[in-house]
Amino acid sequence: MNQQIIYGSEYGTTRRYAEQLSQLTGIPAMDYTSAKNLDGCELVIYLGGLYAGGVKGLKHTVKRLPTGVKLILVTVGLADVTDQENIRNIQNSVRRQLPTALFDQTALFHLRGGIDYGRLSLAHKTMMTLLYNKARHLPEEKKTAEVRAMIDTFNQKVDFVDFASLEPVVNAIPKQ
Ligand SMILES: Cc1cc2nc3c(=O)[nH]c(=O)nc-3n(C[C@H](O)[C@H](O)[C@H](O)COP(=O)(O)O)c2cc1C
Repeated sequence: MNQQIIYGSEYGTTRRYAEQLSQLTGIPAMDYTSAKNLDGCELVIYLGGLYAGGVKGLKHTVKRLPTGVKLILVTVGLADVTDQENIRNIQNSVRRQLPTALFDQTALFHLRGGIDYGRLSLAHKTMMTLLYNKARHLPEEKKTAEVRAMIDTFNQKVDFVDFASLEPVVNAIPKQ
């Protein structure tokens, strides 16, 4: 089976997961900007960092997927992925980024990444500062897992990358 790992990563946490998955499975990994011709590909495992709910590089890659391809989609974000409401929010947002027929057949996984404010671009830092200033005044009951993660980690360096969380993804890949 022709298989490919593709990733969309701005600051490297998603790339680290993709490279580890490649080591564990022997499936080659590449950045989404290099994924130009996927003809003949039967399985794509796509890993993308979450940016304001969007999965980095997913739209670009979906346009290039051959018909009938099987997709495994792995999101990497800051918020707690043991929180069911957070998972529902991520999945609702992913649903809007994939054609319905493809979404219905896609296996979804959600992993936790990290953030280092010292490395953020000016645009990202400004965006996070605006969000933080808005979020911290919200009443407690309005603070979702995403909002809480953002408030708790604001201006810090945190790394929640845990390669053990790749195990269910590895198990979902059909054995050759
Ligand atoms: C501008 C910005 C927006 C973000 N939006 C989300 C989000 O909507 N949900 C989330 O869980 N994490 C969000 N994050 C956190 C990133 O998903 C997290 O840092 C992830 O590990 C980034 O992956 P990367 O290092 O591969 O780029 C955001 C981070 C930035 C800088």
